[in-house]
Amino acid sequence: MPRDPHPVVPRQARVVVLVSGTGTNLAALLAAHDDPAWGARVVGVVSNRADAPALARAQAAGVATAVVAPADFPDRPAWDEGLARAVEVFDPELVVLAGFMRILGEPFLRRFGGRIVNTHPALLPAFPGAHGVRDALAHGVRVTGCTVHLVDAGVDTGPIVAQRAVEVLDGDDEASLHERIKVVERELLVDVVGRMAREGFTVEGRRVVLGG
Ligand code: GRF
Repeated sequence: MPRDPHPVVPRQARVVVLVSGTGTNLAALLAAHDDPAWGARVVGVVSNRADAPALARAQAAGVATAVVAPADFPDRPAWDEGLARAVEVFDPELVVLAGFMRILGEPFLRRFGGRIVNTHPALLPAFPGAHGVRDALAHGVRVTGCTVHLVDAGVDTGPIVAQRAVEVLDGDDEASLHERIKVVERELLVDVVGRMAREGFTVEGRRVVLGG
């Protein structure tokens, strides 16, 4: 049989990444997305902070960015709406929160609910919130880690997609522990986003089933 002269390029799911800070998780996603076999492509990066270093990473990779700063909106509902619209422009199939330090409001969840994932630097449901690493250390746990989960209306309460453990070492402080967690977290996030894009997923109660 003659070979098709046009090789079939795997379809890549459109992903928008929300960031507030350094953007090392974003950088890991951007490093993966040039390979069509990964299954996803970062089509836009949106930040609540104009000074987030993550934005420069996106621009260096040629990915469109938008800033939706709370100070530019009269109130919280208007910001929620503005954020939802900024993301909607990119028509994403998946929204990834990668170090995004704001709670998503109802307008955002209404539009994208069920296809928003967050990465959190602790083994949920332990230590939710903005200080997962600090709180785990203060509690004296010997093992912590990271969690990729679907986002619901609560703070880090949505169904868990995947987790990895990281040992707490004697002498760890918040910075050293967070750095070791982030190495594992980046790997997990790239793996999970690729699998969700390639295989799809279903949610059965609290369980997320990849390939479902
Ligand atoms: C990650 O550990 C994320 O889970 C937490 O903040 C960190 C963001 O890191 N919420 P980066 O901006 O991706 O480098």
